[in-house]
Amino acid sequence: MSSAKPVVLTGDRTTGPLHLGHYVGSLRARVALQHTTQQFLLLADTQAMTDNVGRHRKVTDNVIEVALDYLAAGIDPGLSTIFIQSQVPELAELTQYLLNLVTVSRLERNPTIKDEIRLRGFERDIPAGFLTYPVSQAGDITAFKATLVPVGDDQLPMIEQTNELVRKFNSAVERQVLVECEAVLSPVTRLPGIDGKAKMSKSLNNAIPLGASADEIKKAVNRMYTDPQHLRVDDPGQVEGNVVFAFLDAFDTEPATLEELKAHYRRGGLADSVLKRRLNDHLQALLEPIRQRRQQFSMDRGEVLNILRQGTERARQVSGQTMSEVKAALGLNYFG
Ligand code: TRP
Repeated sequence: MSSAKPVVLTGDRTTGPLHLGHYVGSLRARVALQHTTQQFLLLADTQAMTDNVGRHRKVTDNVIEVALDYLAAGIDPGLSTIFIQSQVPELAELTQYLLNLVTVSRLERNPTIKDEIRLRGFERDIPAGFLTYPVSQAGDITAFKATLVPVGDDQLPMIEQTNELVRKFNSAVERQVLVECEAVLSPVTRLPGIDGKAKMSKSLNNAIPLGASADEIKKAVNRMYTDPQHLRVDDPGQVEGNVVFAFLDAFDTEPATLEELKAHYRRGGLADSVLKRRLNDHLQALLEPIRQRRQQFSMDRGEVLNILRQGTERARQVSGQTMSEVKAALGLNYFG
């Protein structure tokens, strides 16, 4: 690994296995980026704890599930460093200093946090650790001096907040210690749920997991909404808001053919079943090798733990270096 390559830091909360929404939003980009960048992939168990008090087993059990998803999707531990957030104390340490550079009201204005507070019904009883998790996320990113962060579009406010903290820190210590970053967004940023809801999510029960069986994939495709006005094959159909087309946009490998299909559907004469068969074929072709690799890795958990142990050691080295610089910049190097 050459240090001249741009540094990527990204990751996922370990509250459940990953699904196609994660794949399209960021995982697909990460698999491509690992060849041209130095990539760190974080299993965000500490962050998952912020709204799973008393459910820590769910969080810890899913560390291995998300790691399996990464490996199955084609993350190569020889190219990318996969590590466990909670096992890198340097991240918590950096977060502690960054927390002094942000106000509570700024955190309350973070749109992602606002959405999540509403979703979880916290109202005024927000755990402080939850409200401040964007700062911890900024710690994750800046500890590696990452310049690129492949994430779904719901995470853009986190990047903005990170860069605010970087500027504040550097200006406070009058040195360029931390580095600003930018999001890497995929062309298809958000996949709808199979029920047509705006976002695919495990908790909304509208997701296709990366490890889905052939049968589960087929059933999910059959459940998808198309255009409710498209009653007979000959009727003109609507492409916008049509879940099957949203999925074809994300997964069809022949864009020219897809455009012809859209035109045909709009004119009328193209059956939903033809589209669903096409989508099913694409999803089966994508997910079959992923499912097989997932099964292989899941039979060798010892090896997966080895990969995570080595990745975590390396993550500690890199973030430890940044922490020395941060502490020196703050004058916290009493012993030299
Ligand atoms: N917030 C991300 C999620 O909800 C997980 C995460 C934690 C993350 N730290 C990060 C993503 C740093 C990108 C960069 O899944």
